[in-house]
Amino acid sequence: MFTQRHLLGIESLSPQDITEILDLADRYATHNLKQNKHLDVLAGLTQINMFFENSTRTQASFEIAGKRLGADVMNMSMQASSIKKGETLIDTALTLNAMHPDLLVVRHPHSGAVKLLAEKVNCAVLNAGDGRHEHPTQALLDALTIRRSKGRLHRLTIAICGDIAHSRVARSNIFLLGKMENRIRLIGPKTLMPAGVDKLGVEVTDDIAEGLKDVDVVMMLRLQRERMDGGFIPSEREYYHRWGLDPVKLANAKPDAIVMHPGPMNRGVEIDGTLADDINRSVIQEQVEMGVAVRMAVMELLAQNLRNSKAEATTC
Ligand code: NCD
Repeated sequence: MFTQRHLLGIESLSPQDITEILDLADRYATHNLKQNKHLDVLAGLTQINMFFENSTRTQASFEIAGKRLGADVMNMSMQASSIKKGETLIDTALTLNAMHPDLLVVRHPHSGAVKLLAEKVNCAVLNAGDGRHEHPTQALLDALTIRRSKGRLHRLTIAICGDIAHSRVARSNIFLLGKMENRIRLIGPKTLMPAGVDKLGVEVTDDIAEGLKDVDVVMMLRLQRERMDGGFIPSEREYYHRWGLDPVKLANAKPDAIVMHPGPMNRGVEIDGTLADDINRSVIQEQVEMGVAVRMAVMELLAQNLRNSKAEATTC
């Protein structure tokens, strides 16, 4: 049973936790096709979204998920917040905590910042991406997309390609897909592989044709220039030539291999634009769709745990 108070990463989840979240999210994915999507699962609860980094899909997805479940949702505009006036992250957190939110969704450019914040507040904290550390709901939505498309989430060969070193999406996916007993292959230039990659229990190659051989799933990543501080790649043209996914390179994978990307996508850099739009191969839009369902599931489970811990506290 999923008993955690916060969702800070995939590393601390068990395979049973992951399956429980995905089963509930699967039901929400079906529910989300209805015309009337409103439910009261989080009625009376307050959800605050604090994004210290730009985001389109993740923030919108958390907001829609909360509203669909009946929560009161507030988006803090961090650009205009007191952080800009020199307030520390902890002071901002304590201020918000005094307003008694129930769910705090946080994205922050520094690895570990979300955990630090979770230690200071009374509500449930959801990590919406911290530096290059973890992005748990992205890995969960990727897992649900794979499970629905392939009919299972084990014994698959999955390639993760591109800028692995700077990617919290890659890290969370490596943890999740590894826990579910899949074979993982990391593909990209050596300069974009993380330190200690040999300890992750994955295969590593800089040759995309070889790496894609017989894979079931191809996950492409963006070059995260905002986290680079030097010349990691020769040029975008050269990068696309060697590591960008196009139909010729994809022909090395299984004929029914699916193509994924967490977004935002840079067409013509890590992926061919026509391939990204090919509904016979690309599940990129399904990933976005599953994102809402996964966030609804996680917020429901965390709200349940919060209620249980409050009930216990009043009976002691
Ligand atoms: C990712 C992120 O922010 O880590 N995007 C997302 O959440 N959909 C990947 C990226 O920024 O490249």
